[in-house]
Amino acid sequence: MKERKAADRPTILVTGARGQLGRELAAALPSVGNVIACDRTMLDLSDPAAISRVVRDAAPQLIVNAGAYTAVDRAEREHALAFAVNARAPAVLAEEARRARAVLVHYSTDYVFDGERTTPYDEASPPNPLNVYGESKLEGERAIAATGAIAFTLRTSWVYGRYGQNFLVTMQKLAAARDELRVVADQVGVPNWARALAHATVRLVARGVEELPEHAGLYHLSAQGSATWCDFARAIVRDHPRVSVTPITSAEYPTPAKRPAYGVLDASRFARTFGFALPAWQTLLQDCLHSDPEPTPNHPVH
Ligand SMILES: NC(=O)c1ccc[n+]([C@@H]2O[C@H](COP(=O)([O-])OP(=O)(O)OC[C@H]3O[C@@H](n4cnc5c(N)ncnc54)[C@H](OP(=O)(O)O)[C@@H]3O)[C@@H](O)[C@H]2O)c1
Repeated sequence: MKERKAADRPTILVTGARGQLGRELAAALPSVGNVIACDRTMLDLSDPAAISRVVRDAAPQLIVNAGAYTAVDRAEREHALAFAVNARAPAVLAEEARRARAVLVHYSTDYVFDGERTTPYDEASPPNPLNVYGESKLEGERAIAATGAIAFTLRTSWVYGRYGQNFLVTMQKLAAARDELRVVADQVGVPNWARALAHATVRLVARGVEELPEHAGLYHLSAQGSATWCDFARAIVRDHPRVSVTPITSAEYPTPAKRPAYGVLDASRFARTFGFALPAWQTLLQDCLHSDPEPTPNHPVH
């Protein structure tokens, strides 16, 4: 990607900059702009006045909202906080973006769907979340759209990376301690490496804030293929022959929040519009397992 001249470089405000995706974005976005990366201590997304103040001070041309309340089970009992961060905060960010004529990039989830289908969901598929997290994320999507801001809402699924709290890290820790992993095999989705999502975002916004508005809207951004959590676990521990992975049902691993049985996202609209797609999830997993754990500005997306 071409580096932009200093005068052309947009100011980019990143929220949630200490999360899986936020860390990768904060490392990768400097190739296209001047990044102000805000973690929770710099911007508490549950505080609407703080959001307005920080956005107005930064005066960004681009806002990338990587912050989210992602504790899916805890959200069942922290309804108000989940909605504050996942629905009200994106609404305020979008309103501020509209006011400043900035572009907003936001992320959402396959958990807006109920998982009753057995073929990939596209952007026109009707959402019907099964849990509070999914409801709060759907409300965030709708609130952004209602402001009329120039916004890209990118739905993705099963985000993982080399650090943070995610399935890959959990499986690696368990594999170091146990010979058998019992993993749910009746939920189907797509694992997505945070770094690949960040680099796809960079490639998207590298078109320049002048060119982005005509393409604004809702997109599914996901690797190709599909997997159960059990398939994903097997691929993670493939190099540990000592460890066996036993499939179990969701009923054998009860959680406070219900999960959709099927959450594969059809990302073809994104590919048609922007001319590139994420590779197969297995390819990204191998890239991740062999990667530098520290976020990088390189671009594995082709
Ligand atoms: N993780 C997944 O499997 C998954 C699946 C589908 C879609 N998504 C979406 O992808 C996006 C990125 O998710 P992720 O996996 O990177 O999540 P993550 O690792 O949990 O990061 C979320 C970040 O948001 C921050 N945050 C939470 N509450 C906040 C608040 N009140 N004020 C400011 N920051 C706050 C967290 O801060 P702390 O670090 O201080 O807690 C964390 O750094 C989100 O929109 C998420 O909904 C994720």
